[in-house]
Amino acid sequence: MKAIVSGHSKGLGAAIAAHLLAQDIAVLGLARQRNEALAQQYPALLKQAALDLGDNRALDAWLHTPALRDFLGEAHTVPHTVLLINNAGTVQPVGPLARQDSSRLAAAIALNVGAPLMLAAAFAAASEGAADRRIMHISSGAGRNAYAGWSVYCASKAALDQHARAVALDAALKTPPSLRICSMAPGIVDTGMQAEIRASDESAFPMKAKFETLKRDGHLATPQATAAQLVEYLLSDRFGTAPVADVRQLN
Ligand SMILES: NC(=O)c1ccc[n+]([C@@H]2O[C@H](COP(=O)([O-])OP(=O)(O)OC[C@H]3O[C@@H](n4cnc5c(N)ncnc54)[C@H](OP(=O)(O)O)[C@@H]3O)[C@@H](O)[C@H]2O)c1
Repeated sequence: MKAIVSGHSKGLGAAIAAHLLAQDIAVLGLARQRNEALAQQYPALLKQAALDLGDNRALDAWLHTPALRDFLGEAHTVPHTVLLINNAGTVQPVGPLARQDSSRLAAAIALNVGAPLMLAAAFAAASEGAADRRIMHISSGAGRNAYAGWSVYCASKAALDQHARAVALDAALKTPPSLRICSMAPGIVDTGMQAEIRASDESAFPMKAKFETLKRDGHLATPQATAAQLVEYLLSDRFGTAPVADVRQLN
């Protein structure tokens, strides 16, 4: 089994990568920074590519190199099961329209939407020899409910949900389905992104106090616990039965 994980350098992505590696699953991690701790622990199983996924031109250039196919293997050597976890993302820019810097906005959409869609397409093309292909987008409750200050983030996560719904329809045209996909909300997880949310200016993000309370009262999930749930579901027979799901409603 082999897995591609974006945003494996920290937070939820690092925990997902660690969980996969602990199960002897080879991982190709894509992020701007390397994950030295996992590289030391799993020197033979972890490969890493330093990529700014907020730069879709740079990603396109990388996708035209043999890197992805080299990792997955040639058609006759592609493992039975291959996985893509589109996890890298940003909550920025936070704030109403007139305070959204256009360059940051473009980079956020490139990272949160462009990169996962480009990786999904390239993954599908490069993994054609594999019998079992699974894609998990890491979405958010913000893709399903609107929050003041998060118009860019909400729109980008809603795009992932709708992408998964349409890709699932394409996949279902083949028997058996050509791949499985799910856009998954991971719950509220104690990562750097949550610290960034709590550091928001309250005038830009009126729900800041709610997130401070959740942290203070110990209601954030650990990245490790959430990663365990996500990987268990990803590898289960149930995966792909619903194109959009929430980790808090899996049972
Ligand atoms: N934490 C939560 O409560 C929560 C809730 C709902 C959804 N999510 C979603 O879960 C996912 C992971 O979030 P997290 O909380 O783990 O955030 P995080 O701690 O900020 O980690 C983000 C990851 O994405 C990577 N990344 C960010 N910008 C990148 C870029 N330009 N190019 C390549 N990689 C980039 C980072 O790597 P580098 O900095 O090394 O590039 C890092 O590995 C995100 O999609 C987020 O929207 C999180």
